[in-house]
Amino acid sequence: MKNLESLKAWQELSSHVKELKNTTIKQLFVDNKRFSKYSFKVENIMLDFSKNIMEEKTFSLLMALAKEANLPAKIEGMFGGEKINWTEKRSVLHTAIRNFESKPLVVDGKDVMSDILTVRKQMHSFVESVRSGEWKGVTGNRIRHIVNIGIGGSDLGPRMVCNALKNYANDKLNNHVCDVHFVSNVDGTDITETLKSLDPQETLFMVASKTFTTQETMMNAKSARAWLVSALGKDAVSKHFVAMTTNIEAANSFGIESKNCFGFWDFVGGRYSLWSAIGLSVACYIGNNNFEQFLKGAHAMDLHFKNAPLEKNMPVVLGLLGVLYNNFFDADSHAVLPYDQYLELFPSYLQQGDMESNGKSVDFDGNEIAYQTGPIIWGRHGTDGQHAFYQLIHQGTKLIPADFIGVKESLNKIGDHHQVLLSHFLAQTEALAFGKERSVVEAELKKEGKSAGEISALAPHKVFKGNRPTNTIILDKLTPYSLGQLIALYEHKIFVQGVIWRVNSFDQWGVELGKVLAKTILEELKEKKTGNHDASTSGLIKYLLD
Ligand code: F6P
Repeated sequence: MKNLESLKAWQELSSHVKELKNTTIKQLFVDNKRFSKYSFKVENIMLDFSKNIMEEKTFSLLMALAKEANLPAKIEGMFGGEKINWTEKRSVLHTAIRNFESKPLVVDGKDVMSDILTVRKQMHSFVESVRSGEWKGVTGNRIRHIVNIGIGGSDLGPRMVCNALKNYANDKLNNHVCDVHFVSNVDGTDITETLKSLDPQETLFMVASKTFTTQETMMNAKSARAWLVSALGKDAVSKHFVAMTTNIEAANSFGIESKNCFGFWDFVGGRYSLWSAIGLSVACYIGNNNFEQFLKGAHAMDLHFKNAPLEKNMPVVLGLLGVLYNNFFDADSHAVLPYDQYLELFPSYLQQGDMESNGKSVDFDGNEIAYQTGPIIWGRHGTDGQHAFYQLIHQGTKLIPADFIGVKESLNKIGDHHQVLLSHFLAQTEALAFGKERSVVEAELKKEGKSAGEISALAPHKVFKGNRPTNTIILDKLTPYSLGQLIALYEHKIFVQGVIWRVNSFDQWGVELGKVLAKTILEELKEKKTGNHDASTSGLIKYLLD
């Protein structure tokens, strides 16, 4: 197989971008059809990608790159259950766990859909019993608080979604049926602070761990169990603990009965597991109907990704634009800027989704990669981000492509808040793209009565070069369905980029080494020994032990 840099489209892009760098977004907007050419809708999500440094030729070369990289076949392979996670010999089927077509999907001679539907039903009746109050704690109280104990994909997804869908967690009386809490960090402060306000009689722990071996999660689960047992006795565990895991045996040894274990499978990666049993806290929080809508939204995006032509395929377009800046404009990072308070955790969720997937430097064939792969993902909700780091995006020396995500209709209509929020949302991408020229700055300063000397001293500081690329993504409204679509959109964007960069987006060997070294150091800390390390690590151990 040819390497990426020797593909025809890659080489053409490379020489084309040399010329493209002399063009600005402002010049490109001389074409007044640019918005209609470069924006489209998928159900209730709109993407405007016209404010990119991209000519027609750039776009067609990006599409040619996708074809030359066999993207359509790779998409089919993923949906069809091919073992595209080849380093772990696993299929990648998070799309199956939100599939609502009644067709079998055979993997290794087995219909995985029937297992998926069995767990979906099990979750459904569990959620019903918790929300109706039928599920009782050991003292006969109903459950008012759920504590999800997990980390990484077993935490970030459910945490982000519960926060984003707060508005959908109320019952008819406008009360939360149950509240959710998340404990992830091994720092004892996390669990201690969470448990402080909780009544064990009304608390249900959900131990979310694909492997049921993750140190942080196991430690937190054991501390939670000790807290519960000291208040309510040993028998309380079966009524106050459930598990979501592929390792039912380990959950049983922890004291959780099989009937209270919600299974999933190796073909669901941790950071893609939100749609499986790992979403149980979400389902309990927002109820079965909303959870089903959430899965259906993601499924709708799956169908779009699978069936839409590349040019009108939202994850494909976003993925390829990311490649353009990452590989041809030397952009190291990509900002995700949601203009909706409910999406405040979206950037941190996406950090794992994207960086754990595409932070790789070895290709399909095990060769060291010579080009850039996954960017640094970061961001913060607007307008808070504006008052924190936007200065650097506008006037710094780095090119930071950004996705602005907003909603047409607010869920909280108070006065003019939403219009003000939208005005910032729109103004930022306008300012980033078109900037402010020196002549305009000088004219303004003159009007303010500044002297010639003052004008020439101040003007350079007030110039905005513009030409900062952005995508604008607008949801009609934040609903369980549209959130499902949005998350799946980004999941598939990550996949598209992984295909182009020829990396396995579904393993995560890079998190292993630190875990192994920590085991040795833990023993040393317990035994008060400095061990055999480099001078810095030994010095630090000694400092902490003294
Ligand atoms: O960070 C590494 C990782 O393996 C993630 O991919 C995963 O989401 C997380 O740890 C938690 O793993 P588990 O669900 O097995 O506890």
